[in-house]
Amino acid sequence: MFFLSIKKLLCVLPVLAKAATVTYTVPTSAPTGSTALDPAPVGLSFEFFAFPSYVKNVTATNQCLQNFETLTGKWPPIRIGGTTQCSPVLVLRDRATYDPNTSAYVVYTVAAATDAPAALTFGPSFMTLADTYDGTVVLGLNRGHDNITNTIAAAKVAKSSMANLLAIELGNEPESGNSNSAPPTWGAAELIATENATAKSYVYDYAHHNYPGGTITSLMSHSTISSNVGTFTADIAAAVGVGKDYVLGETNSGTSSPRHPQNPTKIYSLRWWSSRRISFVRRRLWTMDYILRASLANIKRTYFHHGTIGLCYYCWWGRYSMGAPYYGAYAAVAALAGGSYISALDTGSTNYAAYIIYDSARTPLRALLYNSDYYAGTGTRGSQSFALQGLAAASGSVRAKRLTAAGAGSRVDEGSNPTFGGQTFANGTCVVGGTEVFESTAVVGGGATFTVAASEALLLYLQ
Ligand SMILES: *[C@@H]1O[C@H](CO)[C@@H](O)[C@H](O)[C@H]1NC(C)=O
Ligand SMILES: *[C@@H]1O[C@H](CO)[C@@H](O)[C@H](O)[C@H]1NC(C)=O
Ligand SMILES: *[C@@H]1O[C@H](CO)[C@@H](O)[C@H](O)[C@H]1NC(C)=O
Ligand SMILES: *[C@@H]1O[C@H](CO)[C@@H](O)[C@H](O)[C@H]1NC(C)=O
Ligand SMILES: *[C@@H]1O[C@H](CO)[C@@H](O)[C@H](O)[C@H]1NC(C)=O
Repeated sequence: MFFLSIKKLLCVLPVLAKAATVTYTVPTSAPTGSTALDPAPVGLSFEFFAFPSYVKNVTATNQCLQNFETLTGKWPPIRIGGTTQCSPVLVLRDRATYDPNTSAYVVYTVAAATDAPAALTFGPSFMTLADTYDGTVVLGLNRGHDNITNTIAAAKVAKSSMANLLAIELGNEPESGNSNSAPPTWGAAELIATENATAKSYVYDYAHHNYPGGTITSLMSHSTISSNVGTFTADIAAAVGVGKDYVLGETNSGTSSPRHPQNPTKIYSLRWWSSRRISFVRRRLWTMDYILRASLANIKRTYFHHGTIGLCYYCWWGRYSMGAPYYGAYAAVAALAGGSYISALDTGSTNYAAYIIYDSARTPLRALLYNSDYYAGTGTRGSQSFALQGLAAASGSVRAKRLTAAGAGSRVDEGSNPTFGGQTFANGTCVVGGTEVFESTAVVGGGATFTVAASEALLLYLQ
């Protein structure tokens, strides 16, 4: 930045001059009503049949997960399941059958490498492989083609061989043939009302599936994200009311078309079914803000789905290329890492977000500022200034890392790498590269102003 030519400087100045300003006071202590954070709130969901391949044949998988562990000290929680566990389409239900006699992880045949199998078997080694993961695992089983003996046989092996087994999920969206209703018509609250105490005692947490969609402009908009997450308010309260966590058990970007729930056993799960999935891996900013807003709403964990390798529009990484959403997820994990509470300074009604993350002593740890104005990558890039008061920067300045890209729709596989704190993640390996860049802003009289360009975010380190 120090070597900017005069010409470039002239281009930058008019943009900065246009910035509107929002002013906030950072609380000295997490206010009443701040939300308690899970130590590892950002998780991954792996499509059932593809899980062994993600572990064994996709080099980036372990490193991408480890990058989060490096930030938080905890491996991200994972869930294994999805359509090839049990299809939401009635006639294709119960795709995965347990076979105690196969030594293979999974056995199936498909016409093309990018097809998902309509039927498969899995063996005990599937569970042994899942047990090699250092984080917690939620394993999805099907209804065994109405052969509950088969499901129970698989569950017993999972329980005996997986020290990291958090819960078993029975079925995957088996309701989808019948109902398209979102909460409150169909959700945890509605289910809880029908459960007796015995049934409730077997529920580990309540999981909803959510695939919000639309254009990138609307998807990444902070007010749209806030209202989408707001859909779950009553459901979250219902789960909390019976002493359980509420999670998004399978989620990613898609086009929302709410479908219906799961069977009420062990883990309840339902999702908004995605009827189509738009363009490829551009959801860097949606991913980041969605994670923060979900955490703020007391959704304890979000499991971002990873589907068929080589045909996965929303995936964070593939065999050969990184996806831009990984950068957003990484920035969100960096914001939440080691945090105990989160609150928002904004009301969720505009395009500009300001979150504060607090440590266990309720002292501000970080702030995340997000300008969700859409910037296509050409023309003047607008910006938003955030004037923050109440900054107790002992050193007299605040350090920050910027999440940025050439535009909102930047795609790694099209040669436009986003950066977070100046760094990128290598295609194929997920190894962080480049020099880590912290910006520094002077704090004067407890205040400082931070400028965030359209389709950018800025993570402030307050300690
Ligand atoms: C990994 O890829 C090899 C070569 O394509 C294949 O034979 C093997 O079955 C794959 N392993 C898994 C676990 O998918
Ligand atoms: C399959 O495994 C079961 C349980 O381990 C065993 O009882 C049975 O004999 C095996 N069948 C074959 C054909 O190997
Ligand atoms: C039901 O599952 C058990 C255990 O896997 C298996 O031995 C049995 O053959 C299955 N029954 C049918 C009808 O498929
Ligand atoms: C509770 O609900 C379950 C599932 O519907 C049922 O099997 C069980 O009998 C019920 N228990 C009591 C004590 O009512
Ligand atoms: C990833 O690959 C694309 C080409 O597909 C390339 O343009 C981009 O620079 C690569 N990213 C990194 C971080 O090396």
